Amino acid sequence: MRNSLITLEDVSLVFARGWPSRERVEAVAGVSLNIPEGGILALVGETGSGKTTLGKLVAGLYRPTRGRVLFRGQDLRAMDRRTFLEYRRAVQLVHQDAFAALNPVRTVYHSLKAPLLHHRLARTERDAREQVAALLTQVGLTPPELFLDKYPHQLSGGQRQRVLLARALTVQPRLIVADEPVSMVDVSLRLSILQLLRELNRRLGIAILYITHDLATARYLAEDGQLAVMYLGKIVEHGTFREVLGNPRHPYLQALLSAVPIPDPRIARSMRPMTLQEIDPPDPRRPPSGCRFHPRCPYARPICREIPPALEGPADHRVACHFAAEIPPWHPLSAASPSQWA
Ligand SMILES: Nc1ncnc2c1ncn2[C@@H]1O[C@H](COP(=O)(O)OP(=O)(O)OP(=O)(O)O)[C@@H](O)[C@H]1O
Ligand SMILES: [Mg+2]
Repeated sequence: MRNSLITLEDVSLVFARGWPSRERVEAVAGVSLNIPEGGILALVGETGSGKTTLGKLVAGLYRPTRGRVLFRGQDLRAMDRRTFLEYRRAVQLVHQDAFAALNPVRTVYHSLKAPLLHHRLARTERDAREQVAALLTQVGLTPPELFLDKYPHQLSGGQRQRVLLARALTVQPRLIVADEPVSMVDVSLRLSILQLLRELNRRLGIAILYITHDLATARYLAEDGQLAVMYLGKIVEHGTFREVLGNPRHPYLQALLSAVPIPDPRIARSMRPMTLQEIDPPDPRRPPSGCRFHPRCPYARPICREIPPALEGPADHRVACHFAAEIPPWHPLSAASPSQWA
C-alpha cells in the first residue's frame, strides 16, 4: 500500500450565496477519499455534481465547511506555515480553460519564469530560461525555442494546455489536479494530452486527480488507478477502476454506462438502455431527501426517500445504495430492465 498523499475525511462544503436570501448549496457532502503518492484517481459525474469544488478542496483553494483534508497525514488546518507552503506547491491545479488561465500579455517564457523565480528555483535569468526550455521539452513543445517567446493567442488549444502543464511542473508537484483538461481541446488532440498526463505519472511519479464527465477518457488514464463516481455532492460508487467498471453496482453508474456509445452495432442493437425516471438532474439547492438519486432511480423503494445510504463495501469497491446487493448486475449485453426487478 502506497503512502497517502491527500486524504479527505468526511469533507463537506456549503456555498451560501445570494443576499439576503442566503441560498445554500452543499456542493460536496461528506466525501472520504484517499489519493496515494503516485496514484491516479478519476472523478466522474455530470455537470454540477461538485467535481470542481472537490478538486479545489484537494488543492487547498477552498476550506471545508466540515471534515478534514490531510496532506501526508497532516491536517491542513493544523499545519505550520512552512508545511502549508510545501503542500501548496505539491498540489497543482490545471484549469480546463487554458486560454483563461494564461495571461494574454505574457509570453510563454514569462508565464513559466514567474513561479520559478517566486519559489527561488531559478537564480538568474539564464538559469530560468534553461529551466523553462527543459520544461517545454518535457511537455512535448519542441524545439522549445519555437515556443518561448510566443503569446497565448499564437498557440493552439492543445499547445496552451501543454503550457499550463509545464507551468504546473515548474514547482515539482506531487499531485496534479486536472479539471476537464481536454474539454476545450480538439478531439484529435485529446489523446495526446492524456498520454502526456500518463507519462508524467509514470516517469515522474506525479499523482493525478483527473476530473471529467467522460468515462471513456477516464478509462484511458485511470485504468490502473481508482474511479469515484459523484452525484449531487456525494460519492455514490468508488474503488479500483477495474473492479468498479467490471461490476458497476450503483444504478446511476449503470445508467451512465448505458449512455456511452457502443462501437459494435451488434452489441448496440441487443442492448437495452437503462432509462431514468426523471431526465433532468434535481436542483442542488434542494437536494432530494434520503438517497439523493432516488427521484431518478428506477429501483427506488420507500426507504430510499428516507435514509441516505452510506458508502459501504471493501476498499476496492464501495457503493452507496440500499439495494446494491440486489440490483441485477449490469453488462452491456445483459442489461436487465428495471421493470423485471420486483
Ligand atoms: N463559488 C460558488 N458559489 C456558489 N455556488 C457554487 C460555487 N461554485 C460552485 N457552486 C455550486 O456548487 C455545485 C457544484 O459545482 P461544481 O462546479 O463543483 O460542479 P462540477 O461537477 O464541477 O460541474 P461541471 O461538470 O459543470 O464543471 C453547483 O450546484 C454549483 O452551482
Ligand atoms: Mg467543473
